[in-house]
Amino acid sequence: MKEILDAILSSDSTSADFANVKLPESYRAVTLHKDEEQMFAGLASRDKDPRKSLHLDDVPLPELGPGEALVAVMASAVNYNTVWSSIFEPVSTFGFLERYGRLSPLTKRHDLPYHVLGSDLAGVVLRTGAGVNAWKPGDEVVAHCLSVELESSDGHNDTMMDPEQRIWGFETNFGGLAQLALVKTNQLMPKPAHLTWEEAASPGLVNSTAYRQLVSRNGAGMKQGDNVLIWGASGGLGSYATQYALAGGATPICVVSSPEKADICRAMGAEAIIDRSAEGYRFWKDEQNQDPREWKRLGGRIRELTGGEDVDIVFEHPGRETFGASVYVTRKGGTIVTCASTSGYMHQYDNRYLWMSLKKIVGSHFANYREAWEANRLVAKGRIHPTLSRVYPLEQTGQASLDVHQNRHQGKVGVLCLAPEEGLGVRDAELRAKHLPSINLFREIDERSIQTSRDI
Ligand SMILES: NC(=O)c1ccc[n+]([C@@H]2O[C@H](COP(=O)([O-])OP(=O)(O)OC[C@H]3O[C@@H](n4cnc5c(N)ncnc54)[C@H](OP(=O)(O)O)[C@@H]3O)[C@@H](O)[C@H]2O)c1
Repeated sequence: MKEILDAILSSDSTSADFANVKLPESYRAVTLHKDEEQMFAGLASRDKDPRKSLHLDDVPLPELGPGEALVAVMASAVNYNTVWSSIFEPVSTFGFLERYGRLSPLTKRHDLPYHVLGSDLAGVVLRTGAGVNAWKPGDEVVAHCLSVELESSDGHNDTMMDPEQRIWGFETNFGGLAQLALVKTNQLMPKPAHLTWEEAASPGLVNSTAYRQLVSRNGAGMKQGDNVLIWGASGGLGSYATQYALAGGATPICVVSSPEKADICRAMGAEAIIDRSAEGYRFWKDEQNQDPREWKRLGGRIRELTGGEDVDIVFEHPGRETFGASVYVTRKGGTIVTCASTSGYMHQYDNRYLWMSLKKIVGSHFANYREAWEANRLVAKGRIHPTLSRVYPLEQTGQASLDVHQNRHQGKVGVLCLAPEEGLGVRDAELRAKHLPSINLFREIDERSIQTSRDI
């Protein structure tokens, strides 16, 4: 592994150097173990601790297939899917691997008693498989997490519609939370040159998802002047949705749960902010019944912030807890666009407010190849910025995942894989200098809040 890292850190390594670098027989990776699937049985979700289920193991190097690349991973990031995987909810990811393994001899490689997680990476291509022309050893890349087969015509207009669509590192093996990763080369995109490895690794999954969900015509198709209610506006998805709303001439109404998170939204440029903890919304009276007066209270608050207008779009992902309110506060003809159900997937809402006011609920999931590419292009141009707040070494991925599980993080939490320290990998210092305050925004506010909590 040292030879690989030396080649990456050296400024004069050529593609031939990378093509000739000796590959190790095994590598270090963050894994789940199949024989531990039941380890949290009977515990409440909040008591399931990712530090217990995530292991750092030496695993054998998988065989490289056609159309694939082996990538040396400098940095990766924690996504909420790392949390779901690590607490085996709503289902164990080993079921995904078994099903994928039944597809072909090549996919059988993924069905193992361990699962290497991780759906983001920034790193360097080491080898490419048969039939790959667009990428070569030595290319500095990021990878999006859409894995498709595209043998069915269903996915030919929109690659997310492929019947064999999977999220790499969640529904497939050999993910990015490791020193090496195996991807299909159609997942590869150029690494934004002005970012460090850990900054470049952090937008991938959430940035692409927010792009499809909010900007793309496959999602809400946001337009200039739209009011957009963004739940969790400083979180993984929300921190990109807020940027897209601002960059696209819309007005984000940012919902967060603390003054620090409100500060982050303000620093991004948002003005309309709702602190849901301070304002104490209780959309559910008890387990079965919601309180429409609370929906109305939220709607009234939104009108206060917008000068009397309702929202054109709700950017939904908390799910059960907020969905009734989201449907209620959307304006006539507006769109509730949802990609998740963090607080529960059996939603309940009053359908009269949907049909009588001709509203639409749109389901959205990750992004197709092109949407992921467009989203990365905006990062590379310095139009959308990484929202990295904290970085952990690979061996502390369990702690990083616990932070996200307990909602104690801001924006994105990064993980250093092969990179020996933060701050490496910048190739365009001029573009970086132009955007430095925006690039560092989440990190600075996070550091300030850690300092304040130490002082208290
Ligand atoms: N379908 C897809 O392709 C896709 C892609 C990415 C993520 N997801 C899913 O989307 C969800 C969010 O992902 P993320 O990366 O944004 O996670 P995240 O970084 O944890 O951010 C989510 C934010 O939502 C807010 N939130 C959480 N529970 C809430 C509740 N009960 N009511 C109101 N707000 C709540 C929190 O913000 P405040 O506490 O500040 O309000 C939290 O920070 C996860 O379930 C994830 O699996 C789906």
